[in-house]
Amino acid sequence: MTLITWRKEFETGIAEVDHEHRELVALINRLADDISAGADKERIQAFLGEVFARIAAHFALEESVMRKHLYDEYEAHKAEHETLLDEIRDIMDEAEDGYAETLSATVANWFVGHFKTKDARMHKNLRA
Ligand SMILES: [Fe+2]
Ligand SMILES: [Fe+2]
Repeated sequence: MTLITWRKEFETGIAEVDHEHRELVALINRLADDISAGADKERIQAFLGEVFARIAAHFALEESVMRKHLYDEYEAHKAEHETLLDEIRDIMDEAEDGYAETLSATVANWFVGHFKTKDARMHKNLRA
């Protein structure tokens, strides 16, 4: 099952950001595959840790690009990043039954929405 299918509209036109977006989409899809294949708990836990670290690193990259360009919606964009990281941490801390599925679905939905709104706007405004 492919959780997120890459779409043209996800492209921001900032090469390094797009590269990482594609990597994150592949990683989240791999996580979803592992979960549906019934991978053991330790493996999923380790994978979730990796996904969290990669997402956090990606957000740091975008935030440094925005700061460099004195991006006007920096605060709002950064706040959305932080909300997702908090949400992931909460789901991981609770680790209730089925949490890995909840987590991959939450992250997938969030990314699709964020790519199309916040990241797409960043692209347009940084180019201007
Ligand atoms: Fe992004
Ligand atoms: Fe972003």
